[in-house]
Amino acid sequence: MDIKELVRSTVNAEIVKSRQFIIAANWKMNKNMKEVFLFIDELKKRYTGKKRNSVILFPPYPYVMLAQELLKNTDISYGLQNIHWESSGAFTGEVSPLMARDLGCQYAIIGHSERRNIFFENDEMINKKIKAALAEGIIPVLCLGEDMEARRENRHRDIIRKQLYEGMADADISLQNRIIIAYEPVWAIGSGATAASNQIEEMHGYINSLLCELYGSDIASGIPVLYGGSVNPGNIQDLAVVKNVSGFLIGGASLKVKDFLKIIELLE
Ligand code: 13P
Repeated sequence: MDIKELVRSTVNAEIVKSRQFIIAANWKMNKNMKEVFLFIDELKKRYTGKKRNSVILFPPYPYVMLAQELLKNTDISYGLQNIHWESSGAFTGEVSPLMARDLGCQYAIIGHSERRNIFFENDEMINKKIKAALAEGIIPVLCLGEDMEARRENRHRDIIRKQLYEGMADADISLQNRIIIAYEPVWAIGSGATAASNQIEEMHGYINSLLCELYGSDIASGIPVLYGGSVNPGNIQDLAVVKNVSGFLIGGASLKVKDFLKIIELLE
């Protein structure tokens, strides 16, 4: 390692240590019961005691109760990958915020790009989910992200602005100050093409400025903005020093406990 590289890595290590990260695993539609058990068992063995950072798992619905059981008396949180906006009723296949709370979930991912693109969720539906989650005391992790076409056409900021403004319309977070934003450019998800540091810095800065517009700087400064899209143990240290990044929403690299633990370790 030459001297410049040594200085850079020392400075970066200091920056990482001075921050508090949220490290969230979105398992999407993956894993079976045994794999969930083994993952959490291993995670618990290695991740003990109160840490500076927070870890949140988002298992598929059928394994949430197992996560609840296994994560008792740990500092690891868990949540749902999606919720409906009604409390109960004739909504075949849906799960309500009330049920999420019943299962001890503190968080719910809302408006993931896979929900938007594959299941046709629009900003109006996402807004209803945000409000319903907040009403039940569930912390929404609102996902925002532009696709490649929008970025090529230089419309990425407009997309993010619309998703944030419409997703949060009339949602009162001023009393609770409990929402998490995840910036996940669609083109970076599962593609191996992580957004560049300057792109992430620009977009997180932009999201912060929108949050200031919406809620004022005091509240906005307390809202974590996570980055998601091809995060892995090899790029986490570079991503962790990007300005305004408060944590990560991780898909593929959160499926193997070894990789996930490596990420956690590199952020400590
Ligand atoms: P990958 O980490 O697999 O790119 O997925 C990101 C994501 O969609 C997390 O919600």
